[in-house]
Amino acid sequence: MFAVLRWAVLFLPLCLGVRLFHNLYCETGEVEIRRNPEPSKYGSLWPLPQKVQLSAGLFQMSSASFAIVDAKQSSAGSDCNILQDAYRRYYEYVFGRGVQRDTRRGGPPVLTQLQVWISSPDPQCDSYPTISSDESYELFVSLPNVVLKAPQIWGALRGLETFSQLVHEDEYGVKCVNETIVTDFPRFAYRGLLLDTSRHFLPVNDILHTLETMAMNKFNVFHWHIVDDPSFPYMSKTFPELSRKGAFHPYTHVYTYDEVKMVIEFARRRGIRVLPEFDTPGHTMSWGKGQPDLLTPCYSGAEPSGTFGPVNPILNSTYDFMAKLFTEISTVFPDAYIHLGGDEVDFTCWKSNPDIQKFMEKQGFGDDYSKLESYYIQRLLDIVSSLKKGYLIWQEVFDNGVKMKQDTIVHVWKGNPEKYKNELENVTAASYKVILSSPWYLNRISTGQDWLAHYKADPLDFHGTEQQKKLVIGGEACMWGEYVDNTNLTPRLWPRASAVAERLWSAQNVTDLDDAFNRLSAHRCRMVGRGIAAQPLFTSYCPKEYWGA
Ligand SMILES: *[C@@H]1O[C@H](CO)[C@@H](O)[C@H](O)[C@H]1NC(C)=O
Ligand SMILES: *[C@@H]1O[C@H](CO)[C@@H](O)[C@H](O)[C@H]1NC(C)=O
Ligand SMILES: *[C@@H]1O[C@H](CO)[C@@H](O)[C@H](O)[C@H]1NC(C)=O
Ligand SMILES: *[C@@H]1O[C@H](CO)[C@@H](O)[C@H](O)[C@H]1NC(C)=O
Repeated sequence: MFAVLRWAVLFLPLCLGVRLFHNLYCETGEVEIRRNPEPSKYGSLWPLPQKVQLSAGLFQMSSASFAIVDAKQSSAGSDCNILQDAYRRYYEYVFGRGVQRDTRRGGPPVLTQLQVWISSPDPQCDSYPTISSDESYELFVSLPNVVLKAPQIWGALRGLETFSQLVHEDEYGVKCVNETIVTDFPRFAYRGLLLDTSRHFLPVNDILHTLETMAMNKFNVFHWHIVDDPSFPYMSKTFPELSRKGAFHPYTHVYTYDEVKMVIEFARRRGIRVLPEFDTPGHTMSWGKGQPDLLTPCYSGAEPSGTFGPVNPILNSTYDFMAKLFTEISTVFPDAYIHLGGDEVDFTCWKSNPDIQKFMEKQGFGDDYSKLESYYIQRLLDIVSSLKKGYLIWQEVFDNGVKMKQDTIVHVWKGNPEKYKNELENVTAASYKVILSSPWYLNRISTGQDWLAHYKADPLDFHGTEQQKKLVIGGEACMWGEYVDNTNLTPRLWPRASAVAERLWSAQNVTDLDDAFNRLSAHRCRMVGRGIAAQPLFTSYCPKEYWGA
């Protein structure tokens, strides 16, 4: 206790002293510090829209007279639940729950309506968001009414968030908003966040809470790394033994069918896809508990050692099992894609097993166990294709030269910038679509403002033709669960994931770090005001501090 205190006292002056010499830099390792947020000319907008024109004209609003309504011309009617739900949500975000100030007599003109105008003949009210959903919108804050125009509901959801970010309080505590025109659309179609519910179980409520916060940051893919070595919390109807034996606890640490459906619907209402990952042939220890003969028995000399390795790729029963399991998964999860994993396969156990050795010989694979892995993956890909689903795979599958459908999306996660840029170059040269995660492993923390490094990474910053760059469809922040459960998930995610969100939504030239710091500080305080335990960026305060869970 005392040792820590002494360190802190000594550390701070040292740090400040160094700052004098290095201007913006504080040398604690390579940590860089930005301090004292100031108001940005873009207010608290995050991620920054593609085009914003803010004017000096000011309007006031009150909860008693303001309403969010369908525009007369809108193709979405009052039966469009996803919009009605969003109106209620954003009304509450705009006005808060506390005592409301009325508009001020003699104050600026009063706005009474936000009209939402869905302009395409198919508003998508009953659809799920997809990779090609139109998230564009235009927002006109002016008299007589605010107009939010979007081809589809997905853009309207994004525009409502932007409107809520424009509202602030004047010196009398009255809600007001500047005259503004916003024209906006995402730079990348895939803006994902991975949660890992195998290394620690995350209660459904925490997943919903994260989805809500994702929507505030305009993320649109929840990559659900639902099972892995440590536990199998997905309750399968076809194979109930998988979670009964493979979950940390068969009743308290599982996701039931209804809970999975609830997550998917909650996400849909926020324009977020749910992309499930069932990672094989490695990362499957928990699968083996409820499914005998699925995993490869490892040998110690001529005898089985009693331990198990990756999925056994030489048995027909393995593929029968996979076909049945993925048939179920493809109906439970409506998204057009499934993440099939394929990362970090350890060959030691396969090498030790005499039956596998014989199979290798028969197939003419020699000593190349990556050929055996490819053999397995190939058969799995065929199964999943026959279910009319597309798939994502971790980069190893591409690295090992597995033949993949041309619409496969390769997920790049390995390496330092030099390595991953080279990988992006290789994958796109082979004409595959790609998403990037290497710079965005948010589970890794270092002291200081590590969001800056996340913010500076750009998915198109690699050597390649225009054609190659078009194959980069986005990126994904990852929160692996070894050291994360629902006690520390939220502060570790936010606002660090927000840095990734802006990189993936805003224009490529939005790179001003000082302006980003100013806006992110305000955005973080807004999240805190909305009840999200987002951690601070540096010494500061919020007008409305966190009220606790
Ligand atoms: C908003 O309007 C106020 C009052 O006219 C003005 O002082 C302020 O600069 C405006 N904000 C922006 C970002 O233009
Ligand atoms: C596995 O299936 C293949 C092709 O369907 C068949 O040729 C082979 O005999 C089967 N092997 C066993 C051990 O049943
Ligand atoms: C990209 O391909 C080149 C040429 O085959 C290879 O030398 C390099 O190692 C590959 N890069 C990565 C990151 O795998
Ligand atoms: C980015 O580029 C666009 C188009 O060239 C320009 O209008 C805009 O002002 C630039 N934004 C920033 C933040 O530099």
